[in-house]
Amino acid sequence: MWAGNEMWAGNEMWAGNEMWAGNEMWTRNEMSLRTTERSHFTTMAPPSILGNNGDGSNSAADENYADINWDELGFSLVPTDYMYVMKCANGEKFSQGTLIPFGNIELSPSAGILNYGQGLFEGLKAYRTENGHILLFRPEENSKRMKTGADRMCMPSPSIEQFVNAVKEIVIANKRWVPPHGKGSLYIRPLLMGTGALLGLAPAPEYTFIIYCSPVGSYHKDKGPLNFKVEDKLYRAISGTGGTGGIKSVTNYAPVYSATTEAKANGFSDVLFLDAATGKHIEEASSSNVFVVKGNAICTPAIDGTILPGITRKTIIDIATDLGYEVMERAVSVEEMLDADEVFCTGTAVVVNSVASITFQKTRTQYKTGPETLSQKLRKTLLGIQTGCIDDTKGWTVLVD
Ligand code: COI
Repeated sequence: MWAGNEMWAGNEMWAGNEMWAGNEMWTRNEMSLRTTERSHFTTMAPPSILGNNGDGSNSAADENYADINWDELGFSLVPTDYMYVMKCANGEKFSQGTLIPFGNIELSPSAGILNYGQGLFEGLKAYRTENGHILLFRPEENSKRMKTGADRMCMPSPSIEQFVNAVKEIVIANKRWVPPHGKGSLYIRPLLMGTGALLGLAPAPEYTFIIYCSPVGSYHKDKGPLNFKVEDKLYRAISGTGGTGGIKSVTNYAPVYSATTEAKANGFSDVLFLDAATGKHIEEASSSNVFVVKGNAICTPAIDGTILPGITRKTIIDIATDLGYEVMERAVSVEEMLDADEVFCTGTAVVVNSVASITFQKTRTQYKTGPETLSQKLRKTLLGIQTGCIDDTKGWTVLVD
């Protein structure tokens, strides 16, 4: 609503160059990343997710939880209350971040991220335990991975302490959006990007670290085991070390769309990519690492510069080793995969999921699925630790509240 030179947007009021949000006032200059208005083009969760209040606002019935249908969660954006923002100039260190209401951000059209893809993202989850506490899972690992990616992309990165504290702040500020125990998790998405304006090809003059979050349920629309298609014409990452396939650069993700869009249109759940050098070895799926199981042996492609060093991947290797399996990180040929008993994928978003079939050049191979499989045993163990139902003997979980 416009009134004179003031504009109300939800609970916020813009007056000239200043905006009131709750009890705080932001000026446009202080907050170039302030909320503008919510885009009509955002892919958001369907309206059916909104609860009785219809807008995600607190229900009088339970002020500890947002009023949404927790049973309807998928993996689409449900806007929460706050996001975290921290900026620094090129050549300097991040120092002080702040929480601001969740909303759109303002960027120069010549920002480094928009023109040259200078950006990274991370993903981690917060789970609610049976007694209502909130746990993070290995957040310092995300921080270290962001630092590795930032070094490769010539960006400053937050320290481990800054990263983990910012994640804790965002979870506490959005606590009512952490799903009840057993209903899903709060997916936390840290971004690091060149937001300074430039024209020539060079590192941006300014960087922004943002964290936003959304409650999520399962990643894949198909509930249950997945059906993969091997992509043998398009590649996800250039081969060998030196590329950027092994970091979480934003530029690694859109290039999979043509293969995944076609595969999904043909009824597949996801695409499995091969190595660009020989086309003979499996690499990873569009959003997850892949493991093959034969008897007591488990293999997954080694981290060689093209494979994302997944935190779930690393955790599953430890859990499976502790269970007595022989876990090998090495090249895995397509033939070896087609001969496996079981195949599964891992990732923060997908957790651990069984693969029911893989189609390679028109031939479909089926794999063991069901509650007795190793992948389901590993999934249960991992989720048990993440949700506080199984003792965390490795110090992986971090209590937030
Ligand atoms: C994650 O698993 O957290 C990821 O970052 C993958 C993303 C494509 C959803």
